[in-house]
Amino acid sequence: MPQITINGTACEFSKGQTIIQAADAHGVEIPRYCYHPGLSIPANCRICLAEVSQLNPKTGKLERIPKLMPTCHTAAVDGMVVSTVSEPARENQKQVMEFLLINHPVDCPVCDQAGECTLQDYSYQHGNAQSRFQEQKIKQPKKDVGEHVLLYSDRCIMCTRCVRFTREVTGTNELMVSGRGGTESIDVFPGQALEAAGMSGNVVDLCPVGALLDKDFLFKQRVWFLKRVPSIDGITASGDNIWVEQNEGRVWRLKPRENAAINQWWMTDEVRYGWKFIHSDERLTLPTMRGAAVDGADPAGAWNAALSRADALLRGAVASRTGVALAVSPMLSCEDAFLLAHTALAYDPDAILGIGPVPVSGSDRTVGTFTISAEKAPNARGVRRTLEAVAASVPGRSSGATVHDWSALRAALAKRAGAAVILTGNYPGAWQTPELIAAVNGHPLLLLDTLRGPLCSSAEVVMPAATWLEKDGSFESARGHLQGFCRAIEPVGAARSEGQVAIDLDAIRRGVKGDHFDVASIRAEMGATAGMEQFATLCQPSDVARRATSDMQFVEI
Ligand code: SF4
Ligand code: FES
Repeated sequence: MPQITINGTACEFSKGQTIIQAADAHGVEIPRYCYHPGLSIPANCRICLAEVSQLNPKTGKLERIPKLMPTCHTAAVDGMVVSTVSEPARENQKQVMEFLLINHPVDCPVCDQAGECTLQDYSYQHGNAQSRFQEQKIKQPKKDVGEHVLLYSDRCIMCTRCVRFTREVTGTNELMVSGRGGTESIDVFPGQALEAAGMSGNVVDLCPVGALLDKDFLFKQRVWFLKRVPSIDGITASGDNIWVEQNEGRVWRLKPRENAAINQWWMTDEVRYGWKFIHSDERLTLPTMRGAAVDGADPAGAWNAALSRADALLRGAVASRTGVALAVSPMLSCEDAFLLAHTALAYDPDAILGIGPVPVSGSDRTVGTFTISAEKAPNARGVRRTLEAVAASVPGRSSGATVHDWSALRAALAKRAGAAVILTGNYPGAWQTPELIAAVNGHPLLLLDTLRGPLCSSAEVVMPAATWLEKDGSFESARGHLQGFCRAIEPVGAARSEGQVAIDLDAIRRGVKGDHFDVASIRAEMGATAGMEQFATLCQPSDVARRATSDMQFVEI
């Protein structure tokens, strides 16, 4: 393989790679503002310039190119020697920093980007401690450019990443460079708002300084208080890789996590802002029975009472031969589905198994190379696959591996009057439609859900469930990627994961103490009892090194 030397490190590269790409692949840091791997390369910021020497084919000698070269735009050539730490390269970095800061307000103490700003970082590394600029700074306005994004123009360094994003990725062209010289600024075209085909938040991630800001996050948290946990989109079937950023058990924002095979560097606004229900005042936090709190019981006591009542209802339904039905929501993980099916079939080996409603909005939309999924549930395929595998593993089950979709499940319930129904929700919004309420009407109902809804007052037992950010699990996306995710925050209130509820219920059935939900041992059990060996290869919460990288890997199904 051809090789170049960057700052003393030997870096192999493949044909067509630029110097900065070879450096990135080997962990050699080169400063950059305008360069982004997902965008075209204008080479306009000049911070990445380096001293470059390469072999002269005529003399066979290594010769220095007389001027500094932009590493983002210069193709790597075998035998090249590159330095971004030599005296001329350092001097260039200093001068670029001085130029960029001439009109910059240097308002880091009140800037949302402080702590994750490359202007700030490179100022420390390459800048001057004091400004020589004595003149009046040019003041630029703050602008509201779209539903989610604010522009603080005087912090902009004109890298044009945001403009190129709307031109090259979304093709929506809302942003432009207006004016010339010192009064140049980014703006939206007159009468247009920045929507970027539902992906506007990406410009905030792309902006290397605090010029483009997320209205939703503005002044909420200093970024150095946030802890990041890698996760997966739990709102749609896209399987997009995300970072969950939380502080003291409260989620503050989601960011895209790079995965070249799935979402590249991007995420939709729908996923970015879709987590708000997690801290909604409408969250269910304690078990209730027939709409009433369990009198005088602490959370543990309320759970014991609710589980005992649920156990009695399920036993009663089996004894009276009406049987049990389980509707697993497509919002649940494969592990939750496995444990719920396991428990339901332990009560009633002929239990009706089905998938809850799968919300779909329009059809899939392609934005550049990015697909916005029409299916607004993360795991319809994984839930089906898991239920089928568990059902097939039950000997003598009369309906075999049959798993109903929602309409077939409603028909099956209509034929089985009085069957006890275990119904799971965990949708980010209202989902209990009149049709759904009618389908479970007349059935003893055990409801596991996250948000208050009409069924909470009529269900025999309501158990508060943990959202995907509050538990470990895995989802199978619409494109057949099975991916694990790890808990980012503790469950809200006394909520438990549906998988934990299934374990606890089964323990009461057997008269033993319930285990703690441990995703690694559940995945091992899925392999051993239901032939789902692929789950063992998913990232486990204990795999700290793998979790620390942005690549948590996925299994192609
Ligand atoms: S607003 Fe940000 S991303 Fe856009 S050109 Fe200015 S610095 Fe670059
Ligand atoms: S990163 Fe190379 S010129 Fe901007």
